[in-house]
Amino acid sequence: MICIPITSRTNKEALHAVERSCRFADFIELRMDLIGEGNLDQLISAVRNNYGLVKIIVTCRKKEEAARAGSAVRVKSAVQNTREKIALLQEAIELGADFIDIELAEGQKAIKELKSLCAKRGGKTKIIVSYHNLKETPALNRLKEIFRQCAKFKPAIVKIVTTAKTVEDNLITLNLISYARKSSPEIISFCMGDKGGISRAIAPFLGSYLSFATLGKEGQSAPGQYTVSEMDQFRDWFNGRRKTPLAPVLSLGRSLPKNYVLLGNPVGQSLSPLMHNAALQKMGIEENYSAFCVQDIGGAMDGLRGMNIRGASVTIPFKVPVMQYLDDIDDDALEIGAVNTIVNNNGRLNGYNTDWLGVMLTLKKAMTIRNKTFVIVGAGGTAQAAAYGIIKEGGFPLIVNRTMEKGKILSRKLNCPFYPLSEAGRIKADCLINTTSVGMNPQRDKSPVAAETLAGYKYVMDVIYNPLKTKLLADAEKQGCKILSGVDMFVHQGAQQLRLWTGKEPPRTLMKKVILERLTKIG
Ligand code: ATR
Repeated sequence: MICIPITSRTNKEALHAVERSCRFADFIELRMDLIGEGNLDQLISAVRNNYGLVKIIVTCRKKEEAARAGSAVRVKSAVQNTREKIALLQEAIELGADFIDIELAEGQKAIKELKSLCAKRGGKTKIIVSYHNLKETPALNRLKEIFRQCAKFKPAIVKIVTTAKTVEDNLITLNLISYARKSSPEIISFCMGDKGGISRAIAPFLGSYLSFATLGKEGQSAPGQYTVSEMDQFRDWFNGRRKTPLAPVLSLGRSLPKNYVLLGNPVGQSLSPLMHNAALQKMGIEENYSAFCVQDIGGAMDGLRGMNIRGASVTIPFKVPVMQYLDDIDDDALEIGAVNTIVNNNGRLNGYNTDWLGVMLTLKKAMTIRNKTFVIVGAGGTAQAAAYGIIKEGGFPLIVNRTMEKGKILSRKLNCPFYPLSEAGRIKADCLINTTSVGMNPQRDKSPVAAETLAGYKYVMDVIYNPLKTKLLADAEKQGCKILSGVDMFVHQGAQQLRLWTGKEPPRTLMKKVILERLTKIG
């Protein structure tokens, strides 16, 4: 039987997803930790009203218990602790869900409490006691012991899901199914992760009660989940109704993605290819980085998957629009609201933001951030990334922007003051950071603020790196401020990208050197 997890970002989207999924699923799992502001009553009613036969599982994992996949990283956990989780599962019982899923780790007291509530309500809701191991697959004997611990509570189903680090790990969970079938609770067991596909495909044929699958490529609640159509293909294959081997099985042996691209428009002036190629060469990685001027960012994402490209930098104007095409977005990028880095994990595109780290590493080298005030000029993606890092480190940003509306929207989001650009001279703060493009080559004689405005600042930073010393920085130096160049931010954000792509520490000194040489040549 197929269970489709609902992991949508909003309740409205979840209601749509329920509507679509019920047509294909035997079970719907409402992942209340992933559905943003999910309304359990509405969601359960949506299943009941339209598809009476589809069974409902209500699950609510704490953040540390949720496998990072699909939208699993997009929404902050709805529950912070066991108490909140139990309250939500109690609500599910009151509302007549068919199953609730509770982790063995929540302990005897919580599980017994929920069981007795189920009994009080006439036993309509049944219990799944689950064990998830997000790191590895323990030995078979250990898993058998865990199964016995779960089974002691006499649940309807025991669910034991581990992470495959090797293909052989699949054999362990498959063997567990054979063992568990001798006892009374139903068993669901398989491995998650890129190497766990085999157990996901075979487990139903050994008697695993449910298979978790998604409708489309999106909406995974755990890594390695197949689509409903892929699971159907497996069934046909095992039943001898399909001759050709399956794409998911083939993909286990697919060669690793290679090479890197910059996606933006325009990209002609970018120094990223120079910097990244120098670093890759020094790191002994025989791959290259090239720039592509893109019209259609959605098409470019298909290209990344299709051409098996390992990673991409994303620049203006796609840092926000690209987000809708990604499979995972990490918490920092999600909060900032922009992605500048993509990692291709065998066809799953994961988004990150390294701009904020670039700003932070530059600032931290010069000053302490805690309790300092920062005027951020601009209200775009870079301003947001800078403000995010500053707040995270205990500093206080103030937004200054040319367009009032945009500046106010950002300051409301950050809960910080806003000033129109024309009033920048009135503000007193420790550091000023320019995140606008004012002063960038060829507009070398322009600065976003008047020179005299800078007199009170101890530090002035520009995110522009071409020219090396912008008019803003030259003015600031004359006013006695310490100046922080955009080159450092550029190098750090690029180095963080390389770390994400390769897992290795990049040669930052060399990267800075090649950029400085080129900029000095440009003059
Ligand atoms: P990014 O994502 O790189 O930060 P962006 O989202 O286009 O780029 O944001 C650029 C910021 O620079 C905006 O806040 C913009 O101000 P407006 O909100 O008024 O458009 C600011 N900016 C760009 N050109 C400017 C100029 N000539 N004078 C003042 N601010 C400017």
